[in-house]
Amino acid sequence: VHLKHLEPFRLSLEKLQDVSARLRKDMIRGLGKHSHHRASVKMLPTFVRATPDGTEKGDFLALDLGGTNFRVLHVRVLEEEQRVLKMDSQICAIPQDIMLGTGEKLFDHIAACLAEFLDSQKLRGQTLPLGFTFSFPCEQKEIDKSILIRWTKGFNCSGVEGEDVVNLLKEAIHRRGDYDISSVAMVNDTVGTMMSCGYRDQSCEIGMIIGTGTNACYMEEMKNVKRVEGEDGRMCINTEWGGFGDDGCLKDVLTEFDEEVDKTSINPGVHTFEKMISGMYLGEIVRLVLLKLTEEKLLFRGCPSEALLTPGSFETRFISEIEEPDSGLENAKKILTKLDLDWDLVDACVARLVCDTVSSRSARLCAAALATIVNRIRINRGLDHLKTTVGVDGTVYRKHPK
Ligand code: GLC
Repeated sequence: VHLKHLEPFRLSLEKLQDVSARLRKDMIRGLGKHSHHRASVKMLPTFVRATPDGTEKGDFLALDLGGTNFRVLHVRVLEEEQRVLKMDSQICAIPQDIMLGTGEKLFDHIAACLAEFLDSQKLRGQTLPLGFTFSFPCEQKEIDKSILIRWTKGFNCSGVEGEDVVNLLKEAIHRRGDYDISSVAMVNDTVGTMMSCGYRDQSCEIGMIIGTGTNACYMEEMKNVKRVEGEDGRMCINTEWGGFGDDGCLKDVLTEFDEEVDKTSINPGVHTFEKMISGMYLGEIVRLVLLKLTEEKLLFRGCPSEALLTPGSFETRFISEIEEPDSGLENAKKILTKLDLDWDLVDACVARLVCDTVSSRSARLCAAALATIVNRIRINRGLDHLKTTVGVDGTVYRKHPK
């Protein structure tokens, strides 16, 4: 099937190589002492200077905020040889009004979830160290001092941007006064992913997330990290590649649908690259394409349903379901029925093609960006060939069938 509205989503190899080259330049700009202020790819130092060697052990609490679910965990890293990770965890919902309310309410909610979890695990008397995975761009001053640059994805709490997030968490716990934690280490989710993968596989030096948002981190040579004192060794850099294109450098790649998604998002003008790739936006892109094809009478006999006209109604998980190799077509029919559309077999096949086109573009853009990072590490080390491992996580990566 040839549909002219799908053409702009099909990026040629040359175009992808070009995108990769542009990202390479932006990464250099983000690392520079004087250029990083204006950089759209922020390249944030993380103060993580090494990946694990597998001998780590201990008893920890962990918080994970910023993905699909907010989670509280108790992690015991045991015997060296067996490398057992014992884990108990609990998911806590974060209601929409808290995601968009005050920072104080958000951190009170987090502290309350942690209290409830400590009780259920009978851990309240112990003062354990805590790992805090906070999946937003932060200007990190130290491993336990981290200032939120801006909210991304679905969050927009007042009074947090520009503040030290570790401090806000500690303050909320002290306000309660009924339990305490020991030291805190704060990491981005990409860094947490790289570290946990690196615990088992020492060649892992890159972490990548394709979930609600998208991002990657990698081990950079200290001598290239101009914003942190010291020349020796390495430091993990949180690229924040989601912001790639925010200076307009991806104009030729964006489709009219991407522009619409950006305009109607809660943060117009920011996280251009992320909006073409991640779970928070893919479903909406598909909905807009389906709507366009309907308006041009190429789908559903030209009749959009109320549901199809409603922003957010086409969930990203529908894309995964529709692209299932075996049950995909049947799933497509069910989903189109649920959306109240008057479909025929051709419509169901076209809907499948639209999903495939949009998710393939997402995968290719990720691959191009990942290639940029891998090539950078390879050249940093003066190698012709680099063998490395990438730790990957995120709901889109986990759930999408391809
Ligand atoms: C957004 C955040 C980033 C995070 C990514 C994946 O891009 O800005 O910090 O790593 O989402 O969750």
